[in-house]
This record gives sequence, C-alpha cells and structure tokens, in this order.
Amino acid sequence: MGNMIFILNGPNLNLLGKREPEVYGHATLADVETACQGIAAETGLEIRMLQSNHEGELIDWIHEAREKAAGIIINPAAFSHTSVAILDALNTFEGPVIEVHISNIHKREEFRHHSYVSARAEGVIAGCGVDGYGLALRHLGQVLK
Ligand code: DQA
Repeated sequence: MGNMIFILNGPNLNLLGKREPEVYGHATLADVETACQGIAAETGLEIRMLQSNHEGELIDWIHEAREKAAGIIINPAAFSHTSVAILDALNTFEGPVIEVHISNIHKREEFRHHSYVSARAEGVIAGCGVDGYGLALRHLGQVLK
C-alpha cells in the first residue's frame, strides 16, 4: 500500500507511439514507464504500469488497488467519455486519483470534452503530452509525503 502507485491505461494506449503520432506523439508506453520509474525512484514511490483494452480488466485493477496502492494515475482513454462503471470503481478507492490525458481533450471533438472520471479525480492533466504522467507522479509524491 504505502508508496505504491498504480498507473492504469485504457484502450488503444498499447499502440502509443504508433497510433496517430500527430495527436499522441512518438513515445511508447514502455518509454513512459521508463520515465516514470526514474521519477518514482526520485520521489520514493513505486509504480505498477498497466494497460488494457478491456473495461472489466481496468475495473479489476482498480479493485486490486484498494488493497495494494496509495494512489492511482489513470488515463482511461475512450472509457473516460463512456464509463460510469470505471467512475463507480474509482469511487471505491480511498486514495488520491489523478486523471491524465496526453492530448488536450477540451481542444478536440465535443464528445471528448466530458469525462466521467473527472467527477472523482483530485486532479486532471490534459494536453501536456506524455509528460502528464510524470507531472501526476511528482504531484502524488508531494501529497502522499
Ligand atoms: C486520451 C484522449 C481520449 O479522448 C482518447 O479516446 C484516447 C486518449 C488522451 O490521452 O489524450 O484514447 O485519453
């Protein structure tokens, strides 16, 4: 529990780096994990980086986080805009939740402007590219001190 942060990634983020690079950039999820490992080591946190294309698997990991994690960073990807089930799962988690979007969802199509997860998140970072994950991690390092 103590210093463990789950970093959860939703559908299509396994293709990060290859998928629409003009929107999401060239870094892969493995690159993001490496960068986050470095920041975690600096801030005294541990991370577990997970990605799934399946809503239920993300929900199972949120339930697991109840027992094992002090905080959650989540990029729910398209499920942000559709999933009451992920919101409900996050509402069962007691620690801080930070929502990350690589792109600025407010600058994009209208259907991306609303996120169910934002109703639960302590903070939302959007449009800072993959740096958003590291910013979220540094923030959790501060609040969990
Ligand atoms: C995203 C934005 C979502 O609208 C989209 O469906 C994604 C990625 C982002 O990181 O910018 O898959 O969450």
